[in-house]
Amino acid sequence: MSLLKLDNVSFGYSSTKTVLDGVSLDIQPGDSIGLVGESGSGKSTLLRLLLGLTRPNSGSISFKGAALDPRNAAFMRAYRRQVQVVFQDPYSSLDPRQTVLSIVAEPLRSLKIAGDHRQMVIDALVSVGLEPDILTRYPHEFSGGQRQRIAIARAIVAGPELLLADEAVSALDLSTRIRIVELLKQLSAKMTLVFVSHDIGVVAALCEKIVILEQGRIVEAGATRPILTNPQHPYTQRLLSSVPRMPA
Ligand SMILES: Nc1ncnc2c1ncn2[C@@H]1O[C@H](COP(=O)(O)OP(=O)(O)O)[C@@H](O)[C@H]1O
Ligand SMILES: [Mg+2]
Repeated sequence: MSLLKLDNVSFGYSSTKTVLDGVSLDIQPGDSIGLVGESGSGKSTLLRLLLGLTRPNSGSISFKGAALDPRNAAFMRAYRRQVQVVFQDPYSSLDPRQTVLSIVAEPLRSLKIAGDHRQMVIDALVSVGLEPDILTRYPHEFSGGQRQRIAIARAIVAGPELLLADEAVSALDLSTRIRIVELLKQLSAKMTLVFVSHDIGVVAALCEKIVILEQGRIVEAGATRPILTNPQHPYTQRLLSSVPRMPA
């Protein structure tokens, strides 16, 4: 069964401008999908719909066959446990007044998850490559890459099935970006990943499938390798021509 399914979803922030136009997408368990498009193509808006922060104007979204209904509090609580997100900016996404322990444990508190939260936080930190002795430290003590690891630890601490990442490596310098992509690749072996990026090169290195979004429409989708070697749509060809060197 599909994990997450979008059927002919359209959305606009206002009635005069369509931001997403008839988007259909079938995310299977275990997929690692890269959602690629230029700035303004509607990637973040699509993630907002997937998170239930916004409702489509038409079309439907379902999770494991059940309609995603932001007004259904019980459904959304269960959904948030299974679907977590990492955003672009590792500086603004972590509360500077909270310790690492408190930050990473936040989903466990808000979702009222039983168990030893401290131990669950330690396990999450270890699985993102951080030392467990940082629990009492604060975000300002860490580099951008370490902060993004903390944000990823927070996203995986409750054991989600689906991890969404919105430009999660775009704010990082090149060497840090490569290491965080490696981390996400490791994690994608254990959970389903939807990775949003304007950078098709990063997506090519990380994702098995690619979805190309142009002005709110999917123009090409499928397995990464054939799309990279033989892009069908001019927009995809253009995105690829801006990448200096593709991985072999
Ligand atoms: N809160 C908002 N209100 C009105 N328009 C918005 C809002 N957020 C985004 N948009 C518009 O929707 C379009 C898609 O934006 P976005 O989803 O952020 O694209 P991307 O993430 O691909 O850069 C853009 O034209 C943008 O200006
Ligand atoms: Mg965006």
